[in-house]
Amino acid sequence: MIQGLLEKMKLPALLINCKGEAVQSPAAWQARRQELLEMLSREQFGHTPAAPASIQAEVEKQETAFGGKAVQRRIRISFDTPVGAFSFPYVLLTPAEKMECPAFLSLNFVPDIPNHCLPAEEVIDHGFALAVLYYQDVTSDSGEWDGMACHYPRDERTGWGKIGMWAFAASRVMDDLLTRPEIDGSRVAITGHSRLGKTALWCGAQDERFSMVISNASGCAGAALARGNTGERVKNIIDRFPFWFCGNYRSWANREDEMPFDQHMLLALAAPRGLYVSSGSQDGWACPENEFLGCAAAGPAWQLHGKAGLAGPDQAPGVHQPLHEGWIGHHIRPGTHFFSRTDWGYHMAFREKHNI
Ligand code: GCU
Repeated sequence: MIQGLLEKMKLPALLINCKGEAVQSPAAWQARRQELLEMLSREQFGHTPAAPASIQAEVEKQETAFGGKAVQRRIRISFDTPVGAFSFPYVLLTPAEKMECPAFLSLNFVPDIPNHCLPAEEVIDHGFALAVLYYQDVTSDSGEWDGMACHYPRDERTGWGKIGMWAFAASRVMDDLLTRPEIDGSRVAITGHSRLGKTALWCGAQDERFSMVISNASGCAGAALARGNTGERVKNIIDRFPFWFCGNYRSWANREDEMPFDQHMLLALAAPRGLYVSSGSQDGWACPENEFLGCAAAGPAWQLHGKAGLAGPDQAPGVHQPLHEGWIGHHIRPGTHFFSRTDWGYHMAFREKHNI
């Protein structure tokens, strides 16, 4: 049934490379990965500049949190750019007196911790560390090329948009996490909701140091296939938020069926690591049906590595029917556009089950 739905969509082939050859081995996938990254850079998110040779990290403030359960540090990351140094802060919460904890790197809508989308104490109670990046500390969520944006030259058609910039900053946080003894660098998941779910997917696609990539309600230009999307279309998103993307993305407005890519390719770039996609049953704008189908269409990238992608019955799941057996986790929570404690609970359960 799922396969039948996907065939009707006529998605661009995930496992046929630019020369028309079938991609059948992990080695061939590595080359295909580069092609997919290049295509998504050129057509959707823009090209990401090279990472700086090094970063500096300074702990600006350290205190205990949650009645002594955790240590909270405010850390400033600095690095060189083509036009001088740039710096931004992030917050790291680690369970008190524990070393080598698995961690979440959470892209946040607001600077406050915890907040309505971030149950920080519960995360700590599960033994995870939590790195929190407030996205507008990097550059504003607007068409102003401010903050980090004015530190890099940008090509109108193929230069990075704001999603690419936030993703790049998250990778700089990862640079720092890998130096901290409180963190198990082999188990760091990047997570975000909505526009920051799109950002988490793009960051995790490019940066293979993340063991897992989590998108909540990322929808259009995130986990949801563009073809047949009954919620937000490319035209809607590029008209309202052109600055999230590269200029070329506009050319696909109302032409989704002609796109040489679709969002299953973005999802597949998490393979063979962990991927999790979740959404609310009443979040039609994010099109949960197409998020699920995107996961199904990305699955072959895991199978190529001898791993199951989505594992479950041959139909779209209902609410509270999480799919946790394969390496692509998925659930639908009852309700609207939100990053709920319920979602976090499922994400943590999946990580605990797979030890990633
Ligand atoms: C808008 C936008 C979505 C986005 C959402 C959000 O609704 O159209 O693409 O995901 O904002 O970030 O909350």
